[in-house]
Amino acid sequence: MFFRVVFFLACIFSTSHGVTNCPLEGPIFPKPQNLSTSATIKAAMKDLTAVLVARDADNSTGVYTNSYSVQAFSTSDTGSTPLFHHYYTAPNLATFNSTGVTQVDADTVYRMGNLTKIFTVYTFLVEAGDIHFNSPITDYVPELAALLNNRNITIGDLASHMAGIASDTQTEVPKCGAYPLCNRTAFAPGETLAYSNVAFQILSYALETMAGRNYQTSLQDKLLKPLNLAHTFYTMPNESIGVIPGNASTDNLSAGMMYSTIADISSLGRSILRSSLLSPAQTRRWFKPTALTIIMDPDRPYELITAYNKASSIGSYSSLLALLPEFGIGFSVLIAGDHALNNWVEEAQANYAGNYLSSELNSSVTFITDTSKPGLGITSWISNGTDMMAVSTYLLTSSISANFSARLYPTDLQVTAADGSKQVVLKAIFEDLATQAKDSKFTAVCGTWIEPTAFVYGAMALDGFVFTLDPSGMR
Ligand SMILES: *[C@@H]1O[C@H](CO)[C@@H](O)[C@H](O)[C@H]1NC(C)=O
Ligand SMILES: *[C@@H]1O[C@H](CO)[C@@H](O)[C@H](O)[C@H]1NC(C)=O
Ligand SMILES: *[C@@H]1O[C@H](CO)[C@@H](O)[C@H](O)[C@H]1NC(C)=O
Ligand SMILES: *[C@@H]1O[C@H](CO)[C@@H](O)[C@H](O)[C@H]1NC(C)=O
Ligand SMILES: *[C@@H]1O[C@H](CO)[C@@H](O)[C@H](O)[C@H]1NC(C)=O
Ligand SMILES: *[C@@H]1O[C@H](CO)[C@@H](O)[C@H](O)[C@H]1NC(C)=O
Ligand SMILES: *[C@@H]1O[C@H](CO)[C@@H](O)[C@H](O)[C@H]1NC(C)=O
Ligand SMILES: *[C@@H]1O[C@H](CO)[C@@H](O)[C@H](O)[C@H]1NC(C)=O
Ligand SMILES: *[C@@H]1O[C@H](CO)[C@@H](O)[C@H](O)[C@H]1NC(C)=O
Ligand SMILES: *[C@@H]1O[C@H](CO)[C@@H](O)[C@H](O)[C@H]1NC(C)=O
Ligand SMILES: *[C@@H]1O[C@H](CO)[C@@H](O)[C@H](O)[C@H]1NC(C)=O
Ligand SMILES: *[C@@H]1O[C@H](CO)[C@@H](O)[C@H](O)[C@H]1NC(C)=O
Repeated sequence: MFFRVVFFLACIFSTSHGVTNCPLEGPIFPKPQNLSTSATIKAAMKDLTAVLVARDADNSTGVYTNSYSVQAFSTSDTGSTPLFHHYYTAPNLATFNSTGVTQVDADTVYRMGNLTKIFTVYTFLVEAGDIHFNSPITDYVPELAALLNNRNITIGDLASHMAGIASDTQTEVPKCGAYPLCNRTAFAPGETLAYSNVAFQILSYALETMAGRNYQTSLQDKLLKPLNLAHTFYTMPNESIGVIPGNASTDNLSAGMMYSTIADISSLGRSILRSSLLSPAQTRRWFKPTALTIIMDPDRPYELITAYNKASSIGSYSSLLALLPEFGIGFSVLIAGDHALNNWVEEAQANYAGNYLSSELNSSVTFITDTSKPGLGITSWISNGTDMMAVSTYLLTSSISANFSARLYPTDLQVTAADGSKQVVLKAIFEDLATQAKDSKFTAVCGTWIEPTAFVYGAMALDGFVFTLDPSGMR
């Protein structure tokens, strides 16, 4: 699904006659604010429902025997009303000798498996921040010193699978780790540290030392209570509120890791995207990769592929939380589901594009969106009689290029005034598309990240554009 999102964007921006812009890493338009009323999104959600309903009725795929809950959410949702939701109860659920629910919905409890790690790191960040990420783990869990043989493993290493410790997902099963959850006294010295499930257990021990209270209390106080996650559990809740897709004796809820509902996971996702418990700066740091791998960039503990995903399967349960901070949206799936989301050009066109004219000076600027290109394009730009397109192309290339491109991208910088109106800063990236190399393997072909604020005009950054929006987000 997430590969598709990235692939989709890549396709859009590579089909424009061989010449592509080089946008800055990050969002290419301001985050959409109005998804639930967007006709595009409404149509997409209707299509998605039709796809899922057709799947639900198709017994050839085996989906018949899977119950699932899926939601899509955004930072602009009202309360806990998601952008999209769909719940499917397998026909055979009622016939099992099950102590669980017979109908799944937004509040049905599933096992979360590896998704538990999001809760661990989020609790850690809310309780202790990221200031300790470079501290050695032995500062906080000194009993590990004997095991580590001078290997300097930091808190941040543990939070991002970077500790270089052997995988515990293979043959060596630690006595104490993810399944079942264990307490500190039960940690077995000499056991292999781990992809690493154990790393997150150790992270919670470090947090206990820092916070001076047990992890479950931090989880409760810092995450579950403030976010009102009333159906998220560290230990097994009453089976009557969970889905148990099999005989109670063979697949009950009890084998460890946390438990939650789709509504709670979406609330957690919204709070991360809104920075409701962390500072925006800390959230942005959290959303940056700490390492690169061929297929994914582990990142405390997301796998980064433009979308930030955490997926899991444990026993009969699968779960997924995906966050797309550039769009301010995400989705959560318990068991199964598939579709792609995209909508932001529309709002950028409505709220940022157009002609801007000065009443006093010969100054004007025109911004347009183009579905084949990233960001807002500048097509003409006169400042007090000076053609700034010519000035900037000359500054960039020391000549006038017919292939000069100036496009604006979001900076996430904004100031909100007392009346709710906002000043939002977008940054222009200037490029000479004609000079781009075709075979990019060993060239710095997309090197625009070096350029922001490189050009200054009358002591002002040439590339900063400030838009004033009314409290509703309209220009
Ligand atoms: C679904 O397919 C399975 C396997 O082919 C079959 O045993 C089952 O009866 C089917 N269920 C329904 C409701 O058609
Ligand atoms: C481990 O790394 C931390 C942070 O970089 C450093 O402060 C500390 O001195 C190191 N300890 C050892 C034993 O190398
Ligand atoms: C911790 O786990 C050990 C071993 O499973 C057990 O003996 C001990 O009672 C547990 N302690 C607490 C506080 O739960
Ligand atoms: C679990 O919930 C059911 C239904 O509400 C109730 O009858 C039962 O007493 C509960 N069990 C426990 C251990 O709380
Ligand atoms: C449930 O248990 C019964 C009795 O042990 C067994 O016959 C049946 O196959 C089981 N069903 C499933 C879905 O595991
Ligand atoms: C149903 O499950 C309960 C306990 O989970 C067990 O005692 C009972 O024998 C089961 N009944 C059947 C028909 O399998
Ligand atoms: C399921 O629950 C029963 C009774 O609570 C327990 O004895 C059994 O070990 C559990 N099975 C698994 C696979 O956790
Ligand atoms: C957790 O993720 C790892 C790596 O993808 C996988 O090997 C393991 O089976 C997962 N465990 C659970 C409980 O989902
Ligand atoms: C606009 O240009 C004129 C003529 O060059 C100059 O006198 C005036 O100060 C400029 N105004 C501003 C606001 O830059
Ligand atoms: C404004 O400036 C542009 C660029 O120098 C020039 O082409 C245009 O004629 C000017 N318009 C007016 C009304 O002076
Ligand atoms: C540069 O611009 C000229 C004139 O618009 C156009 O014919 C040519 O295809 C462009 N070249 C590139 C590489 O964009
Ligand atoms: C949001 O949508 C409503 C209804 O379609 C519209 O009136 C409003 O202007 C939109 N706001 C923004 C910021 O686009």
